[in-house]
Amino acid sequence: MTVNSQQPTIDAFKQAKQDQLFKYYDTLTIDQQQQFIDQLSKIEDPSKLISTVEQAIQFSSNNSASRNFTQLPNESTASTLDLSKDILGAWKDLGLKAIANGEVAVLLMAGGQGTRLGSSAPKGCFNIDLPSQKSLFQIQAEKILKIENLAQQKYALDVKPKVNWYIMTSGPTRNPTETFFKEHDYFGLSADQVIFFNQGTLPCFNLEGNKILLESQHSICESPDGNGGLYKALKDNGILEDLNSKKIKHIHMYCVDNCLVKVADPIFIGFAIDKDFDLATKVVRKRDASESVGLIVLDKDAQKPCVIEYSEISSELANKKDPEDDSKLFLRAANIVNHYYSVEFLNKMIPKWISSQEFLPFHIAKKKIPSLNLETNEFYKPTEPNGIKLEQFIFDVFPSVELNKFGCLEVDRAEEFSPLKNADGAKNDTPTTCRNHYLERSTRWVNANNGQVVDNGLVEVDSKSSYGGEGLEFVAGKQYKNGDII
Ligand code: UTP
Repeated sequence: MTVNSQQPTIDAFKQAKQDQLFKYYDTLTIDQQQQFIDQLSKIEDPSKLISTVEQAIQFSSNNSASRNFTQLPNESTASTLDLSKDILGAWKDLGLKAIANGEVAVLLMAGGQGTRLGSSAPKGCFNIDLPSQKSLFQIQAEKILKIENLAQQKYALDVKPKVNWYIMTSGPTRNPTETFFKEHDYFGLSADQVIFFNQGTLPCFNLEGNKILLESQHSICESPDGNGGLYKALKDNGILEDLNSKKIKHIHMYCVDNCLVKVADPIFIGFAIDKDFDLATKVVRKRDASESVGLIVLDKDAQKPCVIEYSEISSELANKKDPEDDSKLFLRAANIVNHYYSVEFLNKMIPKWISSQEFLPFHIAKKKIPSLNLETNEFYKPTEPNGIKLEQFIFDVFPSVELNKFGCLEVDRAEEFSPLKNADGAKNDTPTTCRNHYLERSTRWVNANNGQVVDNGLVEVDSKSSYGGEGLEFVAGKQYKNGDII
């Protein structure tokens, strides 16, 4: 880009009333000017962006519009807690068949910065202090290896099928994540089945939402575009094309911080295949009316699936019991951000979703954003929120799925969900709670197979030994002690 070709970008931002960005422009070196314009030119239509932010602010202040929510219809839901072994087995076989056919890929969201956990490395590198000292990434990689083996054995294949692992990172998590994988030789996977791609970024704004903040005299402040940035990232990075060229039909998407995740879960994939769902989501049962979790529900008026935050329902509705079984809450499907997508559906919908605010609106979060103070000309780290970060939410597209194409599978929390969110010292979702949940699940599997763990100890079933509790018959009659790895 030449200096002359920089002018249209400058004009577009000035037209959008962003003159503040160019306060130092004339004092910059040619290289700095170029760098700055390169960053700015990634924003296609600055005026549209500014008006979108204004809309997002308005939307967030009027978001109390009353909507009516109810349970999803029975046809859309199932629970592994009360399904027969036959049905679960049939779904597992369907899922394993799809894996054996090379039709399944997993998609990991690993772009978050893990601010609450406070670790400097990406969350997936975190070691929750299991006896094996394995990181979350290693556990997940070995689950993929294990499920590939199970599919190969089940269908007596000569060649092991491949489950591709697409890992979405962000600016801050990309390099350390890729380096970690290389250093660990991809944990036994082949390098070409692990595909990294970055989610996008969005500029940060002042609290009024009308001025983009400068990070330096020649760069703007940016932040990752939220987990809803996944859809645009799949398109922009050629991942959709890659899925199509590899004839992958089914995607299992999950979050990096769930230490109990069943990666490429054949039961979940089989559930979606059997019911011909376009999109399905795994949920766990809400613990009690006061648990702060989002819920998967039906918007009664629109007759569309959606997610509501715990703050969006009345206390009466939150406490309401299920009329068919009053031991359960009426609205209890807690969102754990664990989805199935058919690739055909993504092909059809992603262009629509990413082209309109109707599907993926911006949500605003007021944050402390280190930035350049244009009055003092100095960089500062605020102690109070001084600006707005924009985020898109992955589940905002749910209402664009036809109700009969949307599935919701309830699973056992103790078997499948324990997220790492906070540093030790917090009440929930810490390295210690994750470690305990992981070891308690392992110990249950050993007990279920008539193995004995002495002195109320906890053992670790290695991720290579069993995918979900199967194949542990060899522990019968054996004794294990606290900290053993099986
Ligand atoms: P969280 O919303 O819990 O965020 O992410 P986080 O970054 O892990 O932690 P905090 O909020 O900063 O403490 C849930 C999942 O979504 C991914 C995370 O990597 C995690 O798997 N995520 C989040 C992204 O991939 N990109 C984002 O921009 C945000």
